[in-house]
Amino acid sequence: MYVCLCHGVTDTHIKEAVAQGHQRMRDLRRELGVTRQCGKCASHALAVLNDTTAKTSSSARQEVSPKDWSLPMWYSPQPV
Ligand code: FES
Repeated sequence: MYVCLCHGVTDTHIKEAVAQGHQRMRDLRRELGVTRQCGKCASHALAVLNDTTAKTSSSARQEVSPKDWSLPMWYSPQPV
């Protein structure tokens, strides 16, 4: 779906930019040109950006399971 008509930017372009590490609106503005002309795309671009970064960070959280946690060998819990 087109997000920025002035520069022909789609939600796929934004998702690809986020995957490449551009995770702020100023990054999207610089890389893709969103909001540089009329600015009507700002709220939709921000929504796509926030949605994409939320999905990226939640999938990153799921990659670490409690089984992966390890305590240092010197750690011994004290009774409370
Ligand atoms: Fe994005 Fe105009 S729609 S700058």
